[in-house]
Amino acid sequence: MSEKFEKTAAPWKDIADMWNTYFTQPSRVSKDESNKYKEWLSNCTDSSKEILLLGVTPEIRESLAELKCNVTCIDINKEMISAMDSVLKIKNPNEKILNENWINNSLSDNSFDVVIGDAVLPNVSWEDREKLLFEVKRVLKPNGLFITRIFCVPREKPFKNVDELLKKFSTREPNYQSALEFVLELQILAYDPKDHLGTFSKPKKMLEEIRGENGFDFDSDNLNKILEMVWDFWCVKFVEKVYTYAYRDEEETEYENYFEIDEIYEAIDNDYSSITPMYILRMK
Ligand SMILES: C[S@@+](CC[C@H](N)C(=O)[O-])C[C@H]1O[C@@H](n2cnc3c(N)ncnc32)[C@H](O)[C@@H]1O
Repeated sequence: MSEKFEKTAAPWKDIADMWNTYFTQPSRVSKDESNKYKEWLSNCTDSSKEILLLGVTPEIRESLAELKCNVTCIDINKEMISAMDSVLKIKNPNEKILNENWINNSLSDNSFDVVIGDAVLPNVSWEDREKLLFEVKRVLKPNGLFITRIFCVPREKPFKNVDELLKKFSTREPNYQSALEFVLELQILAYDPKDHLGTFSKPKKMLEEIRGENGFDFDSDNLNKILEMVWDFWCVKFVEKVYTYAYRDEEETEYENYFEIDEIYEAIDNDYSSITPMYILRMK
């Protein structure tokens, strides 16, 4: 397997059992987003339709189970498959799971009515993004739909430097939500459109500069707690993981090579919904 795969897909296996704790919005589907996935699916599926889910995202699988859909989930990490099985609230008797790669798999051409996946493009290398979209198109039937929430970075960075971020987060409650938002803001701050990478190694370097031998020592205890959570999980346990991020207009252009945009939705309960909107895409 290529080194890129080792950084984009493989790190999930090491944190599978921690996903349910550390992954909060916007990395995780919000209630409103879950409802929108379900609403869109109920408009385009019934028990005669074949659905492909890229990954094993529980919120989407639960909606598919309620709609009694025939589902194939495809995920490369068996650790994620079993961890997501254990948090699933509704099991789907019409679901099968394929432990394979989205980009290189045994799925037949023209075999699905809908392909759905949450934030999938950032989980493959920049070079493989087009290959993934080609695969989605290959397995879709004519007129098939691709439903996905995207995950991109804003063209204008909301914070100019780490000090501004520290000030903002010094008044936040320390919890998994604020820790995830802090590390996402660090990724956005460190983002360079030349390499398109959302690493955790760049945030780690930024934190190393403000971390003493005994940890963080700011006046705000809440801030110190947030920083320790960011350090322990995102900068140690998930530090090998690399995402690829585009600007929203760039990501739309990638989709438009293969699809027409039917509808876009920004959730009302996700503060980051302008960089994580949802799309229904129709095959050209
Ligand atoms: C769908 S993504 C995005 C995370 C999503 N927002 C969530 O809440 O789970 C995460 C999943 O993609 C899987 N994955 C990443 N790259 C893959 C690839 N190339 N082929 C198959 N599965 C992959 C990972 O194992 C992980 O279970």
